[in-house]
Formats: sequence, structure tokens, C-alpha cells
Amino acid sequence: GETHYHEFVVQATPVKRLCKTHTKITVNGQFPGPTLEVRNGDTLVVKVVNRARYNVTIHWHGVRQLRTAWADGPSFITQCPIQPGGSYTYRFTIEGQEGTLWWHAHSSWLRATVYGALVIKPRAGTSYPFATPKREFPILLGEWWTSNPIDVINQALRAGAAPNVSDAFTINGQPGDLYNCSRKDTVIFPVNSGETNLLRIINSAMNQELFFTIANHRLTVVGIDASYTKQLATSVIMLGPGQTTDILITTNQPAGRYYMAARAYATAPNVPFDNTTTTAILEYQSIPCPATKSRSKSKSKSKCTSSQPVFPFIPAYNDTQTVTAFTTSLRSPANIRAKVPTKVDVSLFFTVGLGLNPCNPGRTCQGPNGTNFTASMNNVSFVLPSTLSVLQAFYRGVNGVFTTNFPPFPPTQFDYTGNVSRALWTPTRGTETYRLKFGSTVQLVLQGTNIFAAENHPIHLHGHDFFILAEGFGNYNPRTDPAKFNFVDPPLRNTVGVPVGGWAVIRFVADNPGAWLMHCHFDSHLTWGLAMVFLVDNGVGELETLEPPPADLPRC
Ligand code: C2O
Repeated sequence: GETHYHEFVVQATPVKRLCKTHTKITVNGQFPGPTLEVRNGDTLVVKVVNRARYNVTIHWHGVRQLRTAWADGPSFITQCPIQPGGSYTYRFTIEGQEGTLWWHAHSSWLRATVYGALVIKPRAGTSYPFATPKREFPILLGEWWTSNPIDVINQALRAGAAPNVSDAFTINGQPGDLYNCSRKDTVIFPVNSGETNLLRIINSAMNQELFFTIANHRLTVVGIDASYTKQLATSVIMLGPGQTTDILITTNQPAGRYYMAARAYATAPNVPFDNTTTTAILEYQSIPCPATKSRSKSKSKSKCTSSQPVFPFIPAYNDTQTVTAFTTSLRSPANIRAKVPTKVDVSLFFTVGLGLNPCNPGRTCQGPNGTNFTASMNNVSFVLPSTLSVLQAFYRGVNGVFTTNFPPFPPTQFDYTGNVSRALWTPTRGTETYRLKFGSTVQLVLQGTNIFAAENHPIHLHGHDFFILAEGFGNYNPRTDPAKFNFVDPPLRNTVGVPVGGWAVIRFVADNPGAWLMHCHFDSHLTWGLAMVFLVDNGVGELETLEPPPADLPRC
């Protein structure tokens, strides 16, 4: 493949939204950041120069990073952060992935404004497994805070409370015309009648699952998380943060203007969320203007930009039925049976959920009933190291940075989705990892809990894609639920929404040496510790072992 060189300058940039200009951290002064476009098989070399006053790292969300864990990016997991004034060059090859991924900052809450699309076209000399679309548009769904997002999370951590919800959702960085003074900046996607277009939808929001729909147009899903799917026709899609969905739309409607819109899907109504709606406009290039007197007098161009776009139907914020129907209909393309691991070497069961810590004496905690929010997997709340990254410590055999005792099962069996005893609400804390032999096949049951709130958790695994064999509500039943496993065409993803008050079963092969973070992609939950790390040992061959660390790997 080809090699693409880029420079990302992380810098403070004034950005105006919702009538207010604030200084945000951006890449190259752009918000959202630059779109990277490559082919499957190409190599990316991105020099990141930090001219901001925060430590920063960049993560290439969903990129397998085979043998190049040093380029994965999560702060203190695979590298020490790039300090102000420093730089680091990420170098990696796209191997076997096609579709849409994205990149984002992976330190503190910088990813609120430091993110962009990574478009992966078919391998050179090959084409899409569908008719080549006439136009393609990356569509990044985001969340906007008028204030500094780092201040928002720091304030929440000091208070022990949930962070303030965002002031707007955005499509390609713009809130759209349902928000005050955003109207004239609403993003317009120009299309021609009778053509098929590929929309690459990315949920880059911080803390919110989102519905996405377009008025009067059928959405045909063709890919998720840079894996192709069987075609699935729908009127609405839902994405958790981190997930991507590629859809085809055919412009077969009367020439006109049609809203696309995104709004929250929220499963825990006792946790506050932003219930506003972001819009953009799909605009046919040949809109006939209504024959009115005013028009003949005006000098305006033939486009009737004053015509009101058609508004779509968006499901209610808590419409879990629609979400379940959609997510459980996603399928890998025909006959991938050979690739779904049928033999399991390591069988794991992790609870995922919130918790509440008691308040230290002398402090005022603003969480529920005077507590602090926390979150955990198997009752362990993950603590980031601060002296060295987990991967550096693993590679060099440095003691004291992490432990390898992450529990494979919850400390006690309990009714996860019932009325969970208060004794289980307070997790322990630690930098606990779980070690896997190279090439082992892992089955992992992700079980949501009702501790404080039952909600979907978008669980993201770095460095691997996994098959989602089954999902369901309530407690996972190891006797009866395996009968529901799909070994024929399960979807392949890097992020799974564990159903509210329910479970999901995933399988993957630990074929990538390194230290791989697995975490909830709600940044509030990640901050509270809803994370753990898999350590994958080296294999034996050249194609199975971790490359040595780059010379410019930042120091702590
Ligand atoms: Cu997209 Cu660890 O993140």
C-alpha cells in the first residue's frame, strides 16, 4: 500500500458556536479535525505536535494496530502523554479493515474537540461490495460544551457529581438550526436526484448514545466499525459513542431539502442528559422553487434556500425496543463461519456498571445521597498509572506499575439486574490487568448491573475486533443463553452497547501483542474507572511479536 504523511498540530483555537466564542483545543485549527483518507493496506504516519497547554495523545479508534501497540494512543496505557512542546509520530498500517473509523484524543476530556474521521476505502484494485456510490460524506456526531470540557470534568470530579450535560449536539461540528443563532451555519450536504450516496456516520459524542435519521429517506446499512455487513434497510439507526455506521441513501424523493437529525437515546432516566436535537440538511441540487411573486422579484439564485426542510420522525429518547430491533438485526456478510471462533480457551464474565463511593470525612460530595460517583468492571475501578504506561512496563518488565490480578469473574454471584445489595455498590480501586496468551480465543460475557442506574454501556476493546454472539436483557444464564449464540453471521465490531439491564457475549482471538484498554466509551464512566486492560503476550514469529518502541516515544 501507499504511505500517507500528516502533521497534526494540537493547539488552542478560538471557535464560535451558540453565539459564543471560546478557545478550544483543536488539530490544525480545525473543528472537527481533518479527515484522513486511506485504503485498506496503506500506512499512516502522523506526527503529532503538542502546542497546547495540556498533555495529549491521539488514539486511532478501531484500528487493529497489529504489532504496533505503541501507536494505539491511550494515555498511560500504551504511551506516556505528549507534553506541551513535545511531539510523537504515530506509524501504523491498516490491515484488513474497510469502512469508517475515527481518531480522537485519549487523555482527560480533550476528545470533546480533538477528533476527526478516518475513511478506509477498499484495498487498491478492489471495490466496494455494493455499487460504487456517487458521493461520500463523513458525518461526525458530537457534543458541544460552551465552557472548557476539561473544566467540566474536573469540576465534576471535585464535587463527586455527574458532569454537566453538553449545551448542544453537533453534526460535523455544527449544532444546526434548532439552536439559537446556529441556523446560518447549519451543515448542508449537496446531493443530486437519483443517485446513491455513502454516509459514514460516527458517534464521537462524549457521553451520549444517539439516534440518527433522515427525513423521507431509507437508510441502508452496509458497514459498522470498519467491517462490512449484510445490507439492512431501516429508517433510523442508533450509535453508541465510538461506533460507526456506513449507510447508503438513494435520493429518490422529490427534489427538496430534508433534515438529518440526531438526538439522545437515554436508558437511565435518573441520570440527566441533553435532550436537544442537532440537524443538518440534505439538499437536492435541483430544487424547483415555488412560483411565487416574491421569487420573481428577488435576485436570489435558483436554489430556494428559504424553503423549509422536511423534518424526520425520531424515536422517543427511551425507545429501547427500536434500538434492540436495530442492533440485533446487524449481521456480518454471508458465510464468515470459518472466522467465528468456536473453541474457547479463556472464558470470562465481567460486570459493567456504576457505583457510589462514600464521601471522605470533612468533604462535601454532591453525588447521590452525599456520595461520589464511581464505576467498575468486576467491582474493580480502574486507576490509570502516572509514572509509566502499562505497555512500557509490560515490555520492559518494570514492577509496580500494574498488577495482573484482574478477576475473571465477579467477586460474588448476585442478581445483577435486581435490587442489588448496597454492600456491592463500592468497588475497590487498582491498575489491574488480565494476561492472555498469544492466540488464545476469549469468550467474554459483559453483564450490566443495576447498581445506581441500569443503562447501556458502550464497551470498547482496543486492538481487536470481536464477534457479538448474542445479547439479551436481565441476568445472563450460562445454561440456556448459549443456545442463542450466532455462529453463522454475528456482527464484528470494536464497540458493543451492553443492553440496559442486560448482557452481551463477545468472542475474539488475542492475536495482537500489547496492552489493550477495554472501557466504557462514555467518557464520564471511563473517568470513573469503568475500564480494565488485557495484556497479550508475544507470539513466536515475526508477524506475531510486538515491534520495538519508536525512539520518540514520549517520556513520563
Ligand atoms: Cu475511542 Cu479508548 O477509545
